[in-house]
Amino acid sequence: MTEPSPSLPELIDMQIRTTGPMSIATYMGLCLTHPSKGYYKGPDPLGAKGDFITAPEISQMFGELIGFFFVNIWQQMGSPKEFTLLELGPGRGTLMADILRVACRAEGFRDGLDLRLFETNPALIAEQNARLEPYGPKWVDSFEKVGPGPLLVVANEFLDALPIRQFVRGKEGWHERMVGLSEGKRQFGLNPTPIPIASMPERVANAAENAVFEVGLANGEVMSRLARTVSAQGGAILVIDYGYAQTQTGETLQAVRDHKYSDVLAEPGAADLSVHVDFEALGSVAAKAGLAIQPLATQGDWLVRMGINERARALSGANPQLAGDIAAARDRLVTPEQMGELFKVFCAASPGLAPPGFTS
Ligand SMILES: C[S@@+](CC[C@H](N)C(=O)[O-])C[C@H]1O[C@@H](n2cnc3c(N)ncnc32)[C@H](O)[C@@H]1O
Repeated sequence: MTEPSPSLPELIDMQIRTTGPMSIATYMGLCLTHPSKGYYKGPDPLGAKGDFITAPEISQMFGELIGFFFVNIWQQMGSPKEFTLLELGPGRGTLMADILRVACRAEGFRDGLDLRLFETNPALIAEQNARLEPYGPKWVDSFEKVGPGPLLVVANEFLDALPIRQFVRGKEGWHERMVGLSEGKRQFGLNPTPIPIASMPERVANAAENAVFEVGLANGEVMSRLARTVSAQGGAILVIDYGYAQTQTGETLQAVRDHKYSDVLAEPGAADLSVHVDFEALGSVAAKAGLAIQPLATQGDWLVRMGINERARALSGANPQLAGDIAAARDRLVTPEQMGELFKVFCAASPGLAPPGFTS
């Protein structure tokens, strides 16, 4: 008889017992993308029956306005006959379906389109395929595997799922926060060896004792690789996510299950883990690769500048019975007390392009 394979919590605890406490980045990586037991390898996590809901699942207006954004950029580039549109973490394919329904109305857009998707979840890949099959999508396992034409990239709520490391300010320096075991229970602890204050970014180096600083090495790496390709081939990167405009201290690692916050250490693989994105750090990586960074916009401001109010009116005019739902969806995406302010819109693009929605 074969032994049942250990659960993800058992695997994590075994690894800690064998090799000692693990960094939060290792813990997050195992929880989210362990090859067979990670959160993002399981069933579709989105929607009312899942753990959370995202902007494209709230309203088609979100993706449609992003579709206008990409048509505008593509036209500014001279309507190239061959180009790649790449989405990172496309969820159910809803955002891309809404983008393409709008964008493919522009003459020549669909003919030149090479659609690429970067996704880890087999259940979601099946849903993406069902929605996007008419556009001939290809799934990539590396961002460099794109054609030689311009590259347009979109990522909504993707970078927040990439692992971070946490450091806590002590008397003599910063200590990495680790996940260990105490009396058999998963607990946070600190690596006793301090990292010198001078090796931290200037903005946080002199923070008060016990301040927490999060470093998103993985999202910096993703941005750096994408930005190098965009810099060489032309194009733009549009990122929408929750996060902050300037590198700062503060603990943002959170677990969400069934639309409620839960304990980060309690349910490895069963709860979604995410962090707020440091947009200043992302911008400096993209600028280093030669891209021009737009002033960071709040999601609310950006959607209003892109015409969400006009789109909501047009949709309500055509579907008066849905006017209440359309107004509620608009409010949810735009108002500061809902998603409008916490979520930001970041754009890095080839110098010379004027990405729409970033200045009033
Ligand atoms: C929070 S969901 C957002 C889905 C979609 N963008 C939306 O707005 O509805 C995160 C997406 O990123 C994917 N994902 C998370 N981590 C990933 C990784 N390391 N590699 C590839 N895809 C990943 C998930 O499977 C999912 O499609």
